[in-house]
Amino acid sequence: MTPPDYEYLRKLLKDLSGLDLSADKQYLIESRLLPLSRNAGLSGIGELVQKMKGGSGDFTSQVVEAMTTNETFFFRDKIPFDHFRDSIMPEILRARASRRSIRIWCAAGSTGQEPYSLAMCLKEMGAAIAGWRIEIIATDLSQEVLEKSKAGIYSQFEVQRGLPIQMLVKYFKQTGEFWQINADMRAMIQHRQLNLLHDFSQLGVFDIIFCRNVLIYFDQDTKISIFNRLAKTMEADGFLVLGAAETVVGLTDVFKPFPEKRGLYRPTGARPAAGAAATAMPRIAAMAGR
Ligand SMILES: C[S@@+](CC[C@H](N)C(=O)[O-])C[C@H]1O[C@@H](n2cnc3c(N)ncnc32)[C@H](O)[C@@H]1O
Repeated sequence: MTPPDYEYLRKLLKDLSGLDLSADKQYLIESRLLPLSRNAGLSGIGELVQKMKGGSGDFTSQVVEAMTTNETFFFRDKIPFDHFRDSIMPEILRARASRRSIRIWCAAGSTGQEPYSLAMCLKEMGAAIAGWRIEIIATDLSQEVLEKSKAGIYSQFEVQRGLPIQMLVKYFKQTGEFWQINADMRAMIQHRQLNLLHDFSQLGVFDIIFCRNVLIYFDQDTKISIFNRLAKTMEADGFLVLGAAETVVGLTDVFKPFPEKRGLYRPTGARPAAGAAATAMPRIAAMAGR
């Protein structure tokens, strides 16, 4: 790959998905994009870049999707789901007792293991949530992972990663070599394609937001912009859950860590600091239709 082709891809990926590649990640681009270029009958990255410059928005979307990391598994890192069951939900149930409705957003839900883990936690709460209206909205940049999430079909390998066997038996049906999560669980999740770089205020206000293992790929300004906008789309007493390698500390004071609960944050009500990346980044024309 020539240096100009690398720079072109690096800038495009940053603008379209937030992915912030350092100057030495040529191997990552090659390992993710060479299969795509072969499938498209192209000779390599050079021709792939030419095709993108030719203005094929659909192909550009495929390139962006191929570069996203979709790694996920059921009950990933365990602790956030313990917090969800033992701290977040009891507090939200108390606080929302009169309205009996809760909105949860899984902001980079990938292939569904994270939103379905939350749905299983909720089902396990049984009578405590009977009669409550609980919405779970799972969003992701990638249409491909959303399709898989909607289908809720997982391989033996995928259900062996993090999912307790009792939950597998209780909530899934085996179909051949695969396992599909039951229809009532699938009905608990609404799926939407959404790029976190863009305005997401249309989703409404949430009580709980899981936004895990996606901000690590973004640069500091992008993280700050997203935190500031997440704070605006959250109830004052809501909860934000981040991934193990992510934090608001040192970036913004619109959220503060929840004492002694790693990965858990609450809105502070503070206004974003002047000059902070507070607004959504502009939509890029090449991604029209996303
Ligand atoms: C590593 S997975 C994390 C999945 C899940 N949250 C977890 O922790 O297991 C990151 C997900 O973020 C999505 N993603 C990447 N850039 C995004 C963006 N700009 N907006 C929304 N989702 C994005 C990817 O498509 C991918 O599915």
